[in-house]
Amino acid sequence: MVVRTTSDSLKHVRRILKNWTTPLLPDDYSALINPLWSTRELRGVIRQITPAAEGSILIDIEPGWGVPVHFEAGQYIGIGVSVEGRYVWRSYSIVTAPTRRAKNFQICVRAVADGQLSNHLQDNARPGEAIRLAAPAGDFYLTDPIPHKLLFVTAGSGLTPVISMLRMLDDRRQLSDAVLIHSVRAKEELIFAEELDRLQEANPGLRVDIRVTSVDGRITIPQLEEMVPDFADRAPYACGPAQLLNELSAWWATGVDKPYALRTEHFTLDRASDARGGTVTFGNRGSVIADGATTILEAAESAGIRLPSGCRMGICQTCVQSLKEGHAHNLRTGETHEPGSRVRVCCTVANGDVTLDI
Ligand code: FES
Repeated sequence: MVVRTTSDSLKHVRRILKNWTTPLLPDDYSALINPLWSTRELRGVIRQITPAAEGSILIDIEPGWGVPVHFEAGQYIGIGVSVEGRYVWRSYSIVTAPTRRAKNFQICVRAVADGQLSNHLQDNARPGEAIRLAAPAGDFYLTDPIPHKLLFVTAGSGLTPVISMLRMLDDRRQLSDAVLIHSVRAKEELIFAEELDRLQEANPGLRVDIRVTSVDGRITIPQLEEMVPDFADRAPYACGPAQLLNELSAWWATGVDKPYALRTEHFTLDRASDARGGTVTFGNRGSVIADGATTILEAAESAGIRLPSGCRMGICQTCVQSLKEGHAHNLRTGETHEPGSRVRVCCTVANGDVTLDI
């Protein structure tokens, strides 16, 4: 008996549609009727845009045909938006709780200096706009079983995955002993202010401390220890700028024994790894020496070799290439890729000499 999974069935339907519509692609017809119908990529449509705080907006995205809608609180989705004729990809945490089974994904976008997509969305996004999507992903979510005592340390947009966790815990009546220490540059930039008030009112076991860094300065580790004297007994989750996460990681790795590991979410690629780098050979198109912090995509570009790419963050799969020889290390997932594997070169570095089959 052949057991067909949902994804097998979708592929089967896509194949049939392609055969029917050749020489045009099924999408050439379906997009005329509904921009959410696509047989070759995941799509969504922006349904609503609302202000979240100064410089931040909430965007509701309706997922299209075939988009996996299951996610864990704390995970992100990738979105690809056409900017000046080319798709720009970024990942954003889903701020709704999976327990609410909402029809749409909601993300929070904050305009940042040099943030090409965030600035574009702030200025140009409109309800009805079709975008591309990558399935929910990420390993920043609550462990199962959920620890009784929790500590969240966040800053700026780092609150976005944690608000989803807090909402889910609230829905499940499991917010009995949690502390959130959140830093924000200015009071007007605080996102989810009303929701945090509501959560605290509904859950006496939740304590929220907001630190306004333009007034109080950046939080220090001694201050954190003073604010949460039982920190070592808590399961810690942190999301924010790299500097904060590095300080927290160094802190958590030293001192008294702690039963829980620190879990962090980096919004940018963390380039620290044990990968050695090496000579990267691109078929017969050339080779270049790259260190263990330079992605294979960047190495190709430094040698003048153009490879397809999209999000440059390991989410859209546009950059996938075959690894013919050698070992490569994925900075995003920590995986080691063996010869013969398909690798996302935008987030993968050489661990020794490697050859790509291109
Ligand atoms: S460019 Fe998107 S996964 Fe590599």
